[in-house]
Amino acid sequence: MTSIAALAAVAGELEAAFPDPWLRAFSVKANDVPAIVARLGRLGLAANVVSRGEWAAARAAGIPNAGVTLEGIGKSDGELRAAVRAAAAGDPLRWVAVESPEELDALAALAARAGLGAGGRPPLEVLVRLNPDVQPETHRGLAVGRGTAKFGMTETELTAAVAALPADGPIRARGIHLHVGSQLGAVDAWRDAVRRGLAVLSLVRAGRPAFDTLDVGGGFPVGDAGTVPRPARFAEEAAALIGALPEDRRPARLAVEPGRFLVAAAGTIVASVLHVRERGDGERVVVIDAGMTELIRPALYGATHPMRALTSLGAPVHPGAAPSSAARVDGPICESTDTFGSAELPPLHRGDLVAIAETGAYAASMASTYNGRPAAPQVLLEPNGTLTAARSRGRVRFAG
Ligand code: LLP
Repeated sequence: MTSIAALAAVAGELEAAFPDPWLRAFSVKANDVPAIVARLGRLGLAANVVSRGEWAAARAAGIPNAGVTLEGIGKSDGELRAAVRAAAAGDPLRWVAVESPEELDALAALAARAGLGAGGRPPLEVLVRLNPDVQPETHRGLAVGRGTAKFGMTETELTAAVAALPADGPIRARGIHLHVGSQLGAVDAWRDAVRRGLAVLSLVRAGRPAFDTLDVGGGFPVGDAGTVPRPARFAEEAAALIGALPEDRRPARLAVEPGRFLVAAAGTIVASVLHVRERGDGERVVVIDAGMTELIRPALYGATHPMRALTSLGAPVHPGAAPSSAARVDGPICESTDTFGSAELPPLHRGDLVAIAETGAYAASMASTYNGRPAAPQVLLEPNGTLTAARSRGRVRFAG
């Protein structure tokens, strides 16, 4: 279930920190339910996608190609061709962020074959992804801005790849894309990365005036007030770095592409209890009907999400209503890593409801059908308290 009021609150906070002309693009990988992308679109968000599937989700959400940026660590010929085809049809994506010199060559060849940049057809607009080579303050599995990570180009690779592009060819290099990591616990690595991005941008721009765009990626964290930096803190750092540059060296276009910050807190998984048992060591084990197929983050990153019991009407069980004690909450999947960890919960029986909070990001979009499970239904909680169906329960896939 996703709260629309919560989405609106964080979209407003993001806009206050990064107002126009910053482009604010929602990173669809965090939540690819079209109804949710559509609500964010109405709140002024563009869409950042990594595949034709996510691009289709953005289109289904009513976001035009001009509001879609395509990136991704490994794009297939089919994906590159689709971006070229849209440009050739006069309906280009806002830009394509390219990961490597080899990918740039492949894209340039496809764009040349489609006649882009010739005969009155505009060239394809491209950003090149810089590996910022910083030490992100986050879980190792989320620290994509490290120098050893597979993401982006070194400064040397990037400048050589752009220098090799003819100034009036099928591809127009418009600037730099970077991403430091997700759930950043501090602003320092991000500031280092933005500083590096600005330096490389102005170096290349000296010989190529159209190279004027900096997309600083996502990574804004979620957490209790005071425990993590808010977007305004990141914006302050960016403003200081940009403000210190001479006016003619400041990027003409700027973008952020957060995922988690926009959707995490708005989402709740509502599960029901299947059975409860005591283990030999006295531990109470509650098995619920949601598992790693709906929320893989605990198994993958050791992530914890707040859990509480709900009444049959969906209201939180009042803490004084029943004595709570520790319980381990596990999913129904045949894997011992299918556990959500420990929570203080009242006595529970089959059919009782348990809510797992802050599950709007990287839950539904990372869901699987393992163990033959259909995708969970998606419900929107409207600001006036009504519920709207956003996606019905998926179907079980059978082989053959
Ligand atoms: N831009 C790029 C290039 C990215 O790779 C990502 C996330 C984002 C933006 C959005 O980052 P965010 O604002 O959501 O931190 N599955 C992991 C998170 C993986 C993030 C991958 N890239 C999790 O559940 O924590």
